[in-house]
Amino acid sequence: MTAEPTESARILVVDDERVIREILAEFLTLEGFSVHTVEDGEKALTELRLRPYDLLITDLKMPKLSGLQLLEKIEQERLGVLTVLMTGFGTVETAIEAMKKGAYDYLLKPFKVEEVIHVVERALYRQRLQAENIRLREALTIYKVSEALALSHDIEHILDVVLRAALDEVKADVATLHLRDPRSGAYEERVKIVAAGDTGNLASAGMPSPAFAVMLEQFGQGNPILAHGGKASRFFTESSPPSELASFVAVPLQVRANMVGVINVFSFTPGKKFDEGHRKMLAVLASRAASAIDNARLYGELRSSNEDLVRANGSLEEMFQQTVAGFAQALEESDMYTRGHSERVAVYSEVLARGLTLPDAEVRRIVQAGVMHDVGKIGVRYDMLNKPGKLTPEEVAVFRQHPEKGKRILEPVPCLHPLIDGCWCHHEWYDGGGYPRGLAGDAIPLVGRVVAIADAYDAMTSDRAYRRALPHEVAIGEIERCAGTQFDPELSEAFVKLVDAWRLVMRERGQDSLIPR
Ligand SMILES: [Fe+2]
Repeated sequence: MTAEPTESARILVVDDERVIREILAEFLTLEGFSVHTVEDGEKALTELRLRPYDLLITDLKMPKLSGLQLLEKIEQERLGVLTVLMTGFGTVETAIEAMKKGAYDYLLKPFKVEEVIHVVERALYRQRLQAENIRLREALTIYKVSEALALSHDIEHILDVVLRAALDEVKADVATLHLRDPRSGAYEERVKIVAAGDTGNLASAGMPSPAFAVMLEQFGQGNPILAHGGKASRFFTESSPPSELASFVAVPLQVRANMVGVINVFSFTPGKKFDEGHRKMLAVLASRAASAIDNARLYGELRSSNEDLVRANGSLEEMFQQTVAGFAQALEESDMYTRGHSERVAVYSEVLARGLTLPDAEVRRIVQAGVMHDVGKIGVRYDMLNKPGKLTPEEVAVFRQHPEKGKRILEPVPCLHPLIDGCWCHHEWYDGGGYPRGLAGDAIPLVGRVVAIADAYDAMTSDRAYRRALPHEVAIGEIERCAGTQFDPELSEAFVKLVDAWRLVMRERGQDSLIPR
């Protein structure tokens, strides 16, 4: 970064008389101004095009380009410099005429030093006000646009807001916005806005295509792109832009040193040229736009990857449900006497889990564990499971393997891991007297303690090969009796109340057939 020049105002003095130039330069410099002098209008024009000046003090009568002609050029090219004319008594009328054409003030020759200082200071004060007014207007536009951008994550809307602001702010005839496709690297026209008016037809007939390589190089070197008429042609791929093109500005949309796009504005109105102020305004707008576009893109990417994830999760959840249902089906088909057992255990598990006001996800896991709890019985010979009468000690040993088997069935499938505890622990006893591991109290996972009660209640209240279903009251009495030994006492107490409430609800719904007698 180069150091900012000091705050002293820049003044250009134009006079064909060397003495006048020297006097003015000398005391204006003494007053703290930064002064440059030239001897004719043409040189003044060149100087004004090269560097910004706050004030121009020019003689009226000069060779080559007169003061009046210089004033006209300044207006035409919108060079944006305040002008003070110097004139002799004979040409006061001309000076007044010049003021009508946009000059700010005039000085009568021969002038007094104090008079010059006074005029210069007044002019500079006015110039500052003007500049502040412009800055304020720019800030307001930028603020309004920024506000609109902050509210939107929709990239199309953002592009539209930005381009409309660009078009309005510099009174362009056409504005286009190109964005670089992150995959192909090619710049694509995303929005084009044509101002209403005579130039509309011309502009929509076909715009020159920007030469992005040239632009990139310019921007890379920190050079602004602001060109008038034929001089703009180097920024287009066509050999020459439309002859009607009066003025052209391009500003980069830059995100962290990467050019992601370009805003181009075109004037087809004869004499309507953009100036450095316009270009700066667009550059600020572009910088706000670039970050909004970047945010919208990030948001879009985030949303689409989130949507992918949700979709993947959805299909995973579906697959998971199908897997659970498939296992339960396989189990039920292998054992006609326990048909419906898994489903009912799931229902009672849900009654208890919901009554405990567990989080939904935990309730779902417990319900699925209820469905799956006996999955380890797949492969255990069903004739043995359902034989009337007592099991031999060997048969008991085989039967007692089913929680461990269930764990082994679920283990290879990561998405079924949350159901392992329900299978593995539903025969553990609260006092440690259960199997397979002899866990006690809270060491038994909650899901195991819940399913244990649901499993026992259904086993008692449904027909088995070796006995008829027991009445509800008997089953409840048994659960109460075994609270603290086989079952978690708190859960047992809750279950007794909750299952009663559930039975009432089912009766009210006319679903008596689904509740044990
Ligand atoms: Fe079991």
